[in-house]
Formats: sequence, C-alpha cells, structure tokens
Amino acid sequence: MAPPRSRKIGETWGTRCPAESASRTILYYGHSMAIYLVTGVAGFIGSTLARALIARGEQVRGIDNFSTGKRENLTECVSRIELHEVDLLDLDALHRACRGVDYVLHQAAIPSVPRSVKDPLENNRANVDGTLNLLVAARDAKVKRVIYAASSAAYGDTPTLPKREDMLPNPISPYAVAKLAGEYYMTSFYRCYGLETVSLRYFNVFGPRQDPTSPYSGVLAKFITQMLKGEEATILGDGKQSRDFTYVDNVVDANLLACQVDAKAAAGQVFNVATGQRADLYQTFQVLKKLIGYRGDVKYGPERAGDVKHSLADISRAEQYLGYRPKVDFEEGLSRTIEWYRSHQMKPRFAKP
Ligand code: UD1
Repeated sequence: MAPPRSRKIGETWGTRCPAESASRTILYYGHSMAIYLVTGVAGFIGSTLARALIARGEQVRGIDNFSTGKRENLTECVSRIELHEVDLLDLDALHRACRGVDYVLHQAAIPSVPRSVKDPLENNRANVDGTLNLLVAARDAKVKRVIYAASSAAYGDTPTLPKREDMLPNPISPYAVAKLAGEYYMTSFYRCYGLETVSLRYFNVFGPRQDPTSPYSGVLAKFITQMLKGEEATILGDGKQSRDFTYVDNVVDANLLACQVDAKAAAGQVFNVATGQRADLYQTFQVLKKLIGYRGDVKYGPERAGDVKHSLADISRAEQYLGYRPKVDFEEGLSRTIEWYRSHQMKPRFAKP
C-alpha cells in the first residue's frame, strides 16, 4: 500500500523553527528554547501540550493527520506553532518533521478500545506501525528524547491493585496490545540505538476539549456533555467498574518532567501517570450530578467487549524518578472540565439548584 500523502499547512518545513541550527536549542532573549515536535497536536492531549509549551516560550512543531484531531483545538495557538498535516505512515514526512527537533512528544494514536476491537488492522497501523515509523525518523534525526503516550490498558485485567510498572502486562484489547508494543519499541530503540525514550502509561485522561461526540469518546466527556444537555448518560455494565481518572494538566506536567530529568533516571523506562485514586462509574455519575446540578437519572447498557474492570495506578515510580505530583485532583478536574464545556459548547437545560 502506498504511504498516505502528507500536506504542509502554513509554513514550509523548518522556516519557523530553526530546523538546521547546529546547536538545535536556540537562545531567545536569554531563555534557552528547545524545539518540540508534538504528534497528534490537534487532539485533546496534543493540543493541551502545545498550549503549555507555547506558554513556556518553547518552539512547537505539530503534526496531525486530522483523522480524530480537530483544527478548532488549536484555534488560539495556531499562529504560534509550525503545523503540518502528516500521517504517521508517511516515513518521508516524518523524517522532515523530526529535522532539528530536540524532543518528540508522541500523542498521535487511535485511542479507543472498542474501535480497536472493531478494526484491529487499522489499530495496528496507526498505533504500532505509526509509532515505529516515528522512532526510525527520530533516531535518524538524532532527537534528544522521545516521550510516548503509553496506556494503562497494558495492565488489562490483572487482579492486583494498584498497578505497578513491574507487573507482568496482560493486555486484553488490540488497542492495549498495540500500545504495549509501542512501549517495547521505545525501550528497544533506547537499548539498540541509544535514542532516549520515556513511556508514560496514561490512566483515563480527561479535561477540556476531549471530543464527546464519537461513539468511542471517553466516558467523562460523554457523561458531562450529555448531562449538561439534560440527556441521560448510559453506564455500560453494572457501574462498579472503576478508573483512575487523570486530569489532563497532570499529564502535561509528566511530559515536561520526562523531557527534563536526567537520562539515568528515565531513559528506556516506563512510568504510570495518574492520580493514584479511583472512582467507580456510578459514584462518578453521582459526583457529576452534584457538580452540574443535573436532576435526571442514568441508563444502563451491556458491558463492552475488551473492557477492563478496575484500574488504579501506583504512581510512586513517577514521583521518585520524574518528580511527578498530580496537582489537580479528580473533583477539581471535573469542575474545570464542566466549566469549559459549559462556556464553550453547551447550553445547560438544568440550572444549578
Ligand atoms: C481509556 C482511554 C484509552 C486509554 C485508557 C487508559 C478513551 C476514549 N479511552 O480507555 O485511550 O488508553 O483509558 O486507561 O479515553 N463507559 C460507559 N458509558 C459510556 C462510555 C463508556 O459506561 O458512554 C464505560 C466503559 O465501558 C468503561 C469506562 O466507561 O468501563 C471507561 O471507558 P472509556 O472512557 O472509553 O475508557 P477506557 O476504555 O478505560
């Protein structure tokens, strides 16, 4: 199959970032600016990372194939990033994208368990082949470090809680297998080629801009937007399944720390990124009800194939080696997310009591 064609948006390669600069990192008004490549930059997490990097005065190059990413996610910052429409299956375009880059934050993925069950080949292309292509390009361009959005899905249904990185993985869905394969490739590229890589196992990330509209959307984005519209949310299964829901700003912190820490502490390693607390879905619905002022009820539907029952992270490894601390807890994250959907998309039918 011919690789997909990638399209440049706005700037040509490297005109905004000093791609060919010998020292890579440039000095700008005395501040040392690194060049970051964010893959999946138009997605929920990628765009949040891009905004955080810009706020810190860093140079951001972003790539996205816009399959699930949305241009609206970049509205306020598009003029300050070098944006290219690139598919991870286009190795030539990835070579161009990595030129002159210091750090790669690899967020691009098809991040859905049920979608991977429905189409395991598509899942493998995007999440495994795409990741491997990116690693080859990053290695060839001699980038300093690649940070990878790995997934807690790798733990699968192992009964022990909390999940620790030294547990044997037990992936259930094709998505979980693919994300785990990506981790193994990360470590392999460190061991075989000396490319510094760090895998961050995200646990159920949520926050502003998460797309609530797809059948594969994350549960909190769906529940919040449905409840704000006065529609009934649907719990799939008995509602006792639990998750370590992680507000997106904590994930941003973990990525930035993973770039900064000494290679000895992190290169070739895997870290949980979460809050270390969990809530079950029914409890979560009750908390949302209170925060939103929703007076309706919840429906129940059949449990999803490939679903994990419980998920909770031990975050001590990330605390010890990355200096990571979750700054925003679950309820605060929910409040911020609700406010964002309220002001950006929703006209609540149920006023707060
Ligand atoms: C999520 C992420 C995945 C990530 C993983 C890490 C999304 C879309 N998926 O998978 O990328 O790697 O966490 O832990 O963010 N549910 C309902 N009603 C709904 C939708 C979902 O009850 O309308 C249930 C699901 O059956 C599941 C739970 O909510 O039990 C969480 O589902 P979901 O938000 O899709 O996330 P995960 O499958 O855990």
